[in-house]
Amino acid sequence: MVERETWATRVGFLVAAIGSAVGLGNLWQFPFKTAENGGAAFVAFYLVAVVLIGFPAMLAEFVIGRRTNVNAIDAFASLGHRNWRVVGGLAVATGFWILSYYNVVGGWVLRYILGSATGAYFDAPAEYFGAVSSGPEAVLAQALFLGVATAIVAFGIENGIERATKVMVPSIIVIMLVLAGWAATLVGAGEGYAYFLTPSLDAMGENAGTAIPFAVGQAFFTLSLGMAIMITYSSYVGEDDSLPFDGGVIVVTNTLVGILAGLVVFPILFANDIDLALTGGGGAAALFVAVAAGFAELPFGETLGVVFFTVVLVAALSSAISLMEVTVSWAVDNFDYSRPTLAVSVGLGLFALGLPSAWDTAWLTWFDNLAYSLFLPVSVLAVVVFVGWVIGRDALDELRRGTGGLGSFGPVWLWTLRVVVVLGVLGTLALGVYELFLQADPTGVPPLLAGTPSPLLVGWLTL
Ligand code: PHE
Repeated sequence: MVERETWATRVGFLVAAIGSAVGLGNLWQFPFKTAENGGAAFVAFYLVAVVLIGFPAMLAEFVIGRRTNVNAIDAFASLGHRNWRVVGGLAVATGFWILSYYNVVGGWVLRYILGSATGAYFDAPAEYFGAVSSGPEAVLAQALFLGVATAIVAFGIENGIERATKVMVPSIIVIMLVLAGWAATLVGAGEGYAYFLTPSLDAMGENAGTAIPFAVGQAFFTLSLGMAIMITYSSYVGEDDSLPFDGGVIVVTNTLVGILAGLVVFPILFANDIDLALTGGGGAAALFVAVAAGFAELPFGETLGVVFFTVVLVAALSSAISLMEVTVSWAVDNFDYSRPTLAVSVGLGLFALGLPSAWDTAWLTWFDNLAYSLFLPVSVLAVVVFVGWVIGRDALDELRRGTGGLGSFGPVWLWTLRVVVVLGVLGTLALGVYELFLQADPTGVPPLLAGTPSPLLVGWLTL
């Protein structure tokens, strides 16, 4: 057996994990949801969800990976609980499922780089989105995006993912900072900030039924939890370093990029008097129609559009490779073929599963609904119960490795995981299942069947 790969450096692991966390969730979902659900008040709530639920759950995934140094399915067997491999399987399958349509959205972003360069969407942004988001063109774009991701993953951990993300992640941050600086000079920037962040407990209260589960769900999604990504990435960690420290850096950076995204998009919208109705609840239209319409109005809109959508592309790509690596890592550990062969096979599988979503956005919504409301919370829940209740003390030992002891943080983490995270996830799951399967819309059809937009891509059909 060939020796298993590891990250060349600790920073390599950190940067790759940040690349995974920072994605469409930050650049698209977070700012618009924040603006709609009470601005800074929502941010405060989201931070609570991240600190109390996301961060402890992330450490749980790290513990499994670093303890076992094996893929996310066999890790459970390696910890002495063969039957719990089902949970690893569920997490891997959830990730595969989500990536199938994430690639489609990645393809849209590719089209928007092109469309910015040529100004193709400048006259009619909504029509452009309608034209490129489904059908043969979307299939082609999906294939291209997936092809790039596959190529990076085929090169492996150190030469592929680590090398690529070391360039990608700093570029995302630097360019977003520059864009935010530029956006601050636009007339209307102040109004944009106010719309984004003015705290409103009323707005938060009014939307509490959706805002609160969204904040919790977003905390998993944006931190790339429940898809076995953090288990997989930490399984390549060789040395003993402080996992809580790494987790902290990831969580903080991830949140800052989300805020930065808001500081870019809202000035653009307000400087150009873009109809806020176009942001349609923070769905796809927010980015692909409203923000695009902003570029259409700006001097040098072509260049700015290319820069902006390239950042979005890079962020989506560094997330996609992390998710692809989950399945590839399992395949590499289990089958006697080369990594490139396995990566291409996984890529082909993803392409096939993504076809319905690329063909018709209604399918994408359906895939996303199931993932976000059902698979993701169930998978997070199962992993957290395993780490908290099944391997509890061992998990704590592993978390302490490389930290100098942790003091009371250790037990606090374990009990937060056992109680707070478990209850928090159960709550979101219950709400999600209720909304998806039980709560009939006015026509009496449960939303899953009716194709109602999901919390993740809400409103993207309402063009
Ligand atoms: N953290 C990612 C985001 O915010 C979510 C994600 C990760 C999606 C990996 C797909 C693959 O967009």
